[in-house]
Amino acid sequence: MTDFSLTINGKTHHLKDVPQDMPLLWLLRDQLNLVGSKYGCGGGYCGACTVHMDGMAIRSCSIPAAALVGRQITTIEGLAEGADLHPLQQAWIDHDVPQCGYCQAGQIMSAAALLNQQPKPSDSDIDQAMAGNLCRCGTYTRIKKAIHHAAE
Ligand code: FES
Repeated sequence: MTDFSLTINGKTHHLKDVPQDMPLLWLLRDQLNLVGSKYGCGGGYCGACTVHMDGMAIRSCSIPAAALVGRQITTIEGLAEGADLHPLQQAWIDHDVPQCGYCQAGQIMSAAALLNQQPKPSDSDIDQAMAGNLCRCGTYTRIKKAIHHAAE
């Protein structure tokens, strides 16, 4: 067990008695009630748990929370700025992207990390950046449209 502080969505959390190897996803969902990030595979393969570390997409199921001290963690709950949705969130609504919705927070977080690095992504940029985010409902075409829309 260990004590440490993490910055999540701009807020510092002082955490006590956390197992050294507890994945960030467990901490987010079970201790901080940030349940937008989802558990899919638990092994880094599906992308449902995607959050940002310093603006880059990471799989929160596969990284110990204790390894993220000093980093800026952003979850889907912290993506919007104030009352305004992130442009991707608005585009997701405008294009009716979700079907069951389970994977969509992870999809949006991967897309947001892509736009951080490549504000005008090509189709192949999108394919490459989103390849690790699986959607069993097959919403991929709408996801791509929404990303292009948000990038306009
Ligand atoms: Fe983390 Fe699948 S739950 S990648």
